[in-house]
Amino acid sequence: MRYALVTGATGGIGTAVVRRLCQDGCYVYVGYHHSQQKALHICAGLSCCQAVFLDVTDFSAAAKQMAEIERDCGHLDILVNNAGIAQQKLFTDITDDDWSRMVQTNLGGVFACCRAALPGMIRRKYGRIVNIASMWGQMGASCEVHYSAAKAGVIGLTRALAKETALSGITVNCVSPGAIDTAMMHAFSQADIAAFCEEIPMGRLGSPTEVAAAVSFFASEEASYITGQVLGVNGGMV
Ligand code: NAI
Repeated sequence: MRYALVTGATGGIGTAVVRRLCQDGCYVYVGYHHSQQKALHICAGLSCCQAVFLDVTDFSAAAKQMAEIERDCGHLDILVNNAGIAQQKLFTDITDDDWSRMVQTNLGGVFACCRAALPGMIRRKYGRIVNIASMWGQMGASCEVHYSAAKAGVIGLTRALAKETALSGITVNCVSPGAIDTAMMHAFSQADIAAFCEEIPMGRLGSPTEVAAAVSFFASEEASYITGQVLGVNGGMV
């Protein structure tokens, strides 16, 4: 049995990743921050997962929680760093707090969870880390400079960490979604989304299950010689 942790697992993409990894035969720790109820709902009726509170911005508490998970299961094999926040603002309106919150959650959270997961993975010479970036981290988005910068940081962290951990049998890769139909898109009006879709070569938003399929691949044995890569799931945008 392989054990996985998904952060921010109660959101649209996180839920799809949990379900997919369960289908793949993994036991999944469903990391929640805001909604225990949603996490319990995801796990209801499934024998392959359990809910765990995990705020990725609280580095020391997250490390303690991950040590607890390791004690519980014996080996954390797969870490999916999916937790994230978004915000649309003109660059000059971004406050110090907006900047800190964005970087601490979207990039700091990836750093903290990787750092907590790695000692066990290195000891066992096995691990699969999949970070969820964003096409805006590749292309840059107007009115999302802090989001784009943090996600570009996730891509840089992935590439560098992949080099450092390759000899330890650990792969580190990024899935980089385009516009995916989740709560994160609810900040946009229907008209904005329609205009967006016109720019996407495939003419539609992606689904969380399409992102989960890419995560499943990186987490699988088939991807054993693939590390430091960025796989776009973006309908042809990048
Ligand atoms: P969502 O808003 O449905 O889910 C985000 C999840 O992150 C929520 O469960 C939330 O509770 C959790 N979260 C927020 N702050 C947290 C914290 N401090 N600690 C732990 N969890 C926290 O959004 P979605 O779309 O499912 O996003 C998942 C990931 O995919 C994010 O990293 C996002 O940036 C990325 N992404 C999403 C895209 C989209 O179009 N929906 C496009 C590109 C990337």
